[in-house]
Amino acid sequence: MPKITIAIDGYSSCGKSTLAKALAAKLGYSYVDSGAMYRAITLYCLEHGIIKDGVYQREEVVKILDQVHLSFVYNPHTKASDTYLNGQNVEKEIRQMAVSKNVSHISVIREVREMMAKIQRAMGKNRGVVMDGRDIGTNIFPDAELKIFMTADTDIRTQRRVDELTSKGNPVSTEEVKKNLLSRDYEDSHREENPLRKADDAIILDNSELNKEEQLNFVLKLVEDLKLVEGLKALK
Ligand code: DC
Repeated sequence: MPKITIAIDGYSSCGKSTLAKALAAKLGYSYVDSGAMYRAITLYCLEHGIIKDGVYQREEVVKILDQVHLSFVYNPHTKASDTYLNGQNVEKEIRQMAVSKNVSHISVIREVREMMAKIQRAMGKNRGVVMDGRDIGTNIFPDAELKIFMTADTDIRTQRRVDELTSKGNPVSTEEVKKNLLSRDYEDSHREENPLRKADDAIILDNSELNKEEQLNFVLKLVEDLKLVEGLKALK
């Protein structure tokens, strides 16, 4: 089967990137973490005083967009690309709570979304890509052959995020993480520009009770089914 596009959308901290990364490695596809791009812009705004105490001017953010250059360099240890902001690896910095708390403000801005969409579509233009985010199946690649919409129980998601941040040396409280998840879910689903919603043709994956291997197998089976359908079409 020719290479396809796989779009994975869903709520915060559902394990989208874990699944997308494993899937890309298994299929020999590239993996793109679209949330990392919004996080990198947010980091830039925080570092340059464009966002102060959660307050920012939309026009100020739009003005700095042409000063932001994003690039992605494959890291053989994580088997995924690290995000670079103006030539500097910011993979660790963009995962900090300060960025998580502000990223939903920045991702509502139309000009920011347009810039990100251009980069994301270019990265997926040759197919053979697994991209995760909030609007991949609905806006970036509406023609993706496979769309997954991920969800999971809020407490389980919270605990996974706490464990991840703690293991990376960023200890956080459970309460703070849960509050952040719920507010991001709300803002991401209710914004005007490309809100988070399930594409009509997306398949729901609730991974509350699934381990990493089980969720990967669930999606690999869908890829196999697609191959079968393509094969039957070719026989006609
Ligand atoms: O996937 P993540 O939690 O790292 O994403 C961070 C934020 O970026 C998320 O709260 C909303 C925004 N985002 C978006 O608006 N559209 C995307 N395609 C990906 C992320």
